Order: sequence, then C-alpha cells, then structure tokens
Amino acid sequence: MSAFAIVVLAAGKGVRMKSVRPKVLHAIGGQPMLGHVLATAKTLKADRIVVVAAADAEGVAQLAASAGAASAVQKEQLGTGDAVRAAESTLRNFSGNVLVLFGDAPLVTAQTLRKLIARLDGADIVALGFRPADATGYGRMVTKGGTLERIVEHKDASEEERRIGLCFAGPMAGKAATLFELLKTIDTRNAQGEYYLTDLVAAAGKRGLRCGFAEAATEEMLGVNSRADLATAEAAFQERRRRELMDAGVTFIDPATVYLSADTVIESDATVGPFVVFGPNVTVRKGAEIRAFCHIEGAEVGAGAIVGPFARLRPGAVLEEGVHIGNFVEVKNSRIEKGAKANHLAYLGDTRVGAKANIGAGTITCNYDGFQKTKTDIGKDVFVGSNATLVAPVKIGDGAYVAAGSVVTDDIEADAMAFGRARQENKKGRAKEFRAQKSKDKAKT
Ligand code: UD1
Ligand code: MG
Repeated sequence: MSAFAIVVLAAGKGVRMKSVRPKVLHAIGGQPMLGHVLATAKTLKADRIVVVAAADAEGVAQLAASAGAASAVQKEQLGTGDAVRAAESTLRNFSGNVLVLFGDAPLVTAQTLRKLIARLDGADIVALGFRPADATGYGRMVTKGGTLERIVEHKDASEEERRIGLCFAGPMAGKAATLFELLKTIDTRNAQGEYYLTDLVAAAGKRGLRCGFAEAATEEMLGVNSRADLATAEAAFQERRRRELMDAGVTFIDPATVYLSADTVIESDATVGPFVVFGPNVTVRKGAEIRAFCHIEGAEVGAGAIVGPFARLRPGAVLEEGVHIGNFVEVKNSRIEKGAKANHLAYLGDTRVGAKANIGAGTITCNYDGFQKTKTDIGKDVFVGSNATLVAPVKIGDGAYVAAGSVVTDDIEADAMAFGRARQENKKGRAKEFRAQKSKDKAKT
C-alpha cells in the first residue's frame, strides 16, 4: 500500500452527551473511545496519524500524543468538513491517501478499513456505509450501481431519502490533494449550518470524479452521540471481546455476565465464572480459574491459580503459579509466591507471601498508620493462624508459625512459633453463679 495518513475527527462538542468531558474521551471497556480508534489506526500502520481536537480539549491532544499521533486544532466546531480541513496544514507536503475516521465510532476494525481503502482502486473517493436497525440521525448514502452519488444528512433528507437503509459510517478516504481541494468547495447551506464532510461526495461527482463505497457490519459502526449510544457500543464491545477470548481458548461459564476491559489478557484454558469484573491492566495466565463474583484490576493471576468466589484483586497484586485466593480475600500491591494460599476473609496489602505459605481466615496486614504504607514480609512455608493481625513493618521468617489471634508487632525468626495474645483463664463454676445472680435481679424488676 502506498503512503497513507489517517485523520481522526475528535473536536465535536458532543452536546448530546450532556457532559463536561469531551465526547471522544468517554470510555468503552475502560478505554477512551479515541484510544480505540487510535489503536486501530496503529494496526493499519499509517505513515501519519493526526487527531483533530477542539482548542479547549486538553485531554484529547494529550491522549493523541501518548499514542504517538500528531494533533491539529479546530478552532470552532463548524462541522465534520471543516474538521478535516483543520488537519491540512499538519499534512502539508503529504501526497498519499488520507483516511478520515470519526473519534465517536470506536468499534470499526482494521480489516473493514483495509477493505474500504482497497476500493480506492478504481475510485477517487470512497466512503464506508452500514445498515443500522434505526437509521435516525445518520447520513443516507444515495447510490447508483456501484457508484456513490451523494450523502444526504438525516436532517436535510426528504421522506424518500430517509427510507434508504444504507447509512454513512464516518470513514472516508481519497488522495490528500483531492480531499483538501474538494473541501474548499463545500458550504454551510444546510439544515445545521455546518460544513459537512458528506457534501464532498456530490462535489466530487460534479467534477467528474468517481466515488465508491464499501459496507461494514452494523455493530462495528455504531456512532456514539448519547449516553444510550455509549451503553449500546459498550455492550457490542463486550460481546466482541468475550467472543475473541473464547475463540482463543478461554471458557466463560456465563459470558454475558462478565465485564472485560479493552486491555484484559486471558490466556488459553483459563476459566471465568459468572459475574466477574476485569478492570484495567489484568493478565490471567494459562489454566487459571476465576470463580464467580470476583473484582480484579491491575493484577496478574498466575498459571493454574484459583481466585474466588468473591475475591478482590487490586492494583499490584501478583499471584504466582498455583496460588489460591478464596472468598472475601482482598490483595493489593502484594506478591503471593508459588502455591501459597489465603482461602478466606483476609487483607493482604504491601506484602510478600512466600511459596506455600498458608494465610488463615481473618488475617489482616496492618499496612497503613494513617500516614505511611509499610511492608509485611512473610517467608516460605509460614503458617499464619486465623485472625492474626500483622502490624507492618514486620518480617516473618521461613517456616515460622503464628498462633491464631496473635497481634504481631515484632519480627519472627525462621521456624519459631509466635504467640501474640493474652493467656486464657477458666473460672470454675463462674458461669452458673452468673446466671443465678442475673435471674434473681430480673425477678425483682
Ligand atoms: C456524522 C455524519 C453522518 C454519519 C454519522 C456516523 C456528517 C456531516 N455527518 O453525523 O453522515 O451518518 O456521523 O456516525 O459528517 N467533529 C469534529 N468537529 C466538528 C464536528 C464534528 O471534530 O466540527 C467530530 C466529532 O467529534 C465526531 C465526528 O466528527 O467524532 C462526527 O461528528 P458528529 O457531530 O457526531 O456527527 P453525526 O451527527 O454523528
Ligand atoms: Mg456522531
């Protein structure tokens, strides 16, 4: 493929979102919509990527920069045609093809875009269409044979035109010189008083240029203009990712109840139970089992590990191979080494748990004193009895035992047994006396 550039339109006001946040920064799968589009642009290996941002949308330019893309400013939001024009000076001296993408259509795939670009063989301009169940709001594509004659916006369309099912999805491509030349000829005489990118098609026809089109699957091209659209796109995204993971060998017992992030990695032969939420930055290795009702973010689950039901893994939790983390256990910023177990009701924060250690029910690492976080270091083969309170910073040597109910404030050497609790005292007959006294008192009142 010859040199080509991608221009992503991301300057729109997004009025229908009713948000202070720029529309393209609203997230799908925990990643801003613009991030999805930029990731797709990258897989297409464009020579240049330019994001068109509004002057006051700092986060948009920042996101573009972090993805290695350039950004151009559209001073006033005068429409999609004007937005493409805003990228012209950034693309000065660029002579290849330009592909325009909309930042509010995050689900388009590289494969579909390649198909569209291939249509440039034999056409001067190409536009991508799709057939949404409800076409309201979309531009309608007026075609004749394989030629695209014009695109008419919903608000400008006649009754008859509105009956056309083929809608413009956003992606459009052509030679840089052709696009920018034609953009000079469009005006704002339309229902919205905007420069429409879509008017380029009719303008091209007038000059004897040929416009072609390709069609995409509906769920790829959902445009997000409102919160309801955002939810629809999210659902489509979730379904797609779950499907991809299942195709790659992951079992989902009830896929529809599992929430994934855009960057969730789950390796083959892992099993995910019902109602599991994967926040950002999670990797689950081969053969691991995530049982029902877990919440996992910023964590790595090692091969063959078992997590849940009802476990919470927070950022920095690293579970090595074969680790068991059971119900109502929370792990944060901690490495749990090979084969260690914490099966019930525990909090492990800023901790290392050595290989094969066993953490009893109710164990809490006290890692925070209101000012600072400090570390707990638990050696291999350590046995921590139930309801132990480990006051950090504290170190428990390999093979040590911590008696149940202990409050551990001092380091414990290897193979020692620590008792950090009051001694038990049994008072003979005291319970019987107590009961007798109490019932007497009650009878008096
Ligand atoms: C647009 C198309 C419509 C198509 C639909 C697909 C036009 C005129 N209409 O309508 O044919 O069916 O998308 O989803 O192109 N933007 C800017 N600057 C602006 C205006 C918009 O950067 O001045 C950006 C927005 O951030 C957005 C994209 O362009 O990412 C599309 O704008 P939007 O206002 O959502 O257009 P639609 O009404 O959805
Ligand atoms: Mg839109």
